[in-house]
Amino acid sequence: MSRTAELIIDGKSYKLPIIEGSEGEVAIEIGNLLEEVKVITLDPGYKNTGATKSAITFLDGDHGILRYRGYPIEQLAEKSSFIEVAYLLIFGELPTQPQLDKFTHDIKTHTLVHEDTKKILDGFPSTSHPMGVLASLFCSQTAFYPESLDPNRSAEGVYLSIVRSLAKMPTFAAWSYKNAVGHPVNYPDNSIDYCSRFLKMMFALPAEDYNVDPVVANALDKLLILHADHEQNCSTSTVRIVGSSKASIYSSISAGINALWGPLHGGANQEVIVMLENIRKDGGDTEKWINKAKDKNSGFRLMGFGHRVYKNFDPRAKIIKKAADDVLTKLGVNDPVLEIAQKLEEAALKDPYFVERRLYPNVDFYSGIIYRALGIPVDMFTVMFAIGRLPGWIAQWKEMRENKEPIGRPRQIYTGHTTRDYTSITKR
Ligand code: MLT
Repeated sequence: MSRTAELIIDGKSYKLPIIEGSEGEVAIEIGNLLEEVKVITLDPGYKNTGATKSAITFLDGDHGILRYRGYPIEQLAEKSSFIEVAYLLIFGELPTQPQLDKFTHDIKTHTLVHEDTKKILDGFPSTSHPMGVLASLFCSQTAFYPESLDPNRSAEGVYLSIVRSLAKMPTFAAWSYKNAVGHPVNYPDNSIDYCSRFLKMMFALPAEDYNVDPVVANALDKLLILHADHEQNCSTSTVRIVGSSKASIYSSISAGINALWGPLHGGANQEVIVMLENIRKDGGDTEKWINKAKDKNSGFRLMGFGHRVYKNFDPRAKIIKKAADDVLTKLGVNDPVLEIAQKLEEAALKDPYFVERRLYPNVDFYSGIIYRALGIPVDMFTVMFAIGRLPGWIAQWKEMRENKEPIGRPRQIYTGHTTRDYTSITKR
């Protein structure tokens, strides 16, 4: 028997259908409410509002659960690879070896970008933040591949856009870095794996026989897996709503890159390191800064703590913390901010102020420390997040298009002036 919710407004009862997801999540379907009664729901930030039904990623905020297509993030981070996880998120199942080989080959086929891309890149001063360059270069693919402007042209066409996106994102990312440091760009080396190819494009100097440290490449692969999708976060919701207007996959993802840039979203990993560096320069007195975080008038907020969905711990943070320890040990890196990070974490996990407010380290808290250990510059941290999140954006855009979801168009409650007549400027 289908469940219903009863809404009583001014003594009149309205029955609203209740839907239940495969993990027991429950929603009141209000789509037809406005037809029955002139009432909308209001939920700024959509904190308690579902925008869609999705089969891609499941989060359980109370129990710290994250699964991609039903597979626990812990297992994927330990046993899978980023490209295999990208295939899983986008096509719904783990690939067979022939499927993975073809996917890997198809991506390698498209790692080069149109040479005219350099004319766009040259227009950005070296002071440009790499995220702004990345969003622009990614959207420029609509110019080089105008057939992509029809997002549903054919299954083959959509597949081509998907492999082009995955193939060229690392190239655009590395080029946005080279532009920031004023170095000539490197071209992709298709003889090596996805992460090694990116790192070589990022760090190789002209005519240098650059060899990527497998420890660094493996750590990056794990980080990208952990960032690959996260249900309806800000940037993914942006990709979906832009894509809902039938905009191309490239412009939808470019919009997602811009949403991710914000310091409250993907930019948080950069803000964590800036915070840790400031504490270090101030003498490393973590207790002083913990107290400032508790003082509402201080204007200081601990970056990298707490999460909108996770109410006890971010499962990715637990995996990243172990990876950070492993990487810094293997690379022999002694990072002074790591000690400060560990002191902040210890305090946050014990201090009632943070425990009561469920402010525990999230994915951004440790990812910045690993990126530093891997030699990634701070301005590139959010770019790394974008490389990781790309499969999730693609999967969610594809699901939204295949489900033929309507254009996103939220309502509002108007609080401005009621009607009034225009007056001549001479009478104002
Ligand atoms: C993410 O992975 O996108 C962040 O944790 C933010 C979120 O999920 O809201």
